[in-house]
Amino acid sequence: MLVTENLMKEHQLILKYIGLMERYAESALNEFNSFILFEKANDFIVFIDDFADDFHHAKEEDILFRYLDVPGVLTHCNPVPQMLLEHNKAREFVSNMKNSLRTKTLNELVVNMSQYASLLKEHIYKEDNILYPMAERGLSDEAKLSLLKGYATTDNRLNSPDMWCKFEALYTELESSLNV
Ligand SMILES: [Fe+2]
Ligand SMILES: [Fe+2]
Repeated sequence: MLVTENLMKEHQLILKYIGLMERYAESALNEFNSFILFEKANDFIVFIDDFADDFHHAKEEDILFRYLDVPGVLTHCNPVPQMLLEHNKAREFVSNMKNSLRTKTLNELVVNMSQYASLLKEHIYKEDNILYPMAERGLSDEAKLSLLKGYATTDNRLNSPDMWCKFEALYTELESSLNV
């Protein structure tokens, strides 16, 4: 029984958005593209808030990490506090993105987008390759079963199929609007 498969699938969509956001940020060196970046930045922020944070990070923080924070589950060092720290750091970058959008400060927007992207890429790498395998090894079948029930509740509450559809479509639209 695997409890990190869906989370890894969610990582893939997050990484796709991050890659595209980096391409938007890089292309904004050109003045016309900076106009497009200002126009589209909010779409990236909505994805990050609704999908990466409310949906994915909430599943980790409210469900998976709680099961891992029980003595005996993680045999080596416990990476959960570091992961939580990185979620909060990511939220800081997003809040800076929102501010720079309000004040129309291109440099600050581009820098915070890039910093968010670097942080999340490293964070996802650590989860996929260190934390999640530790979870699969350390959790009992009983814990995994109730964990999966917790995910199902969150998936229902946030209407997961609709959310996937909406953000797959938005990705396609954002990709076709990138003028490079
Ligand atoms: Fe995470
Ligand atoms: Fe994650």
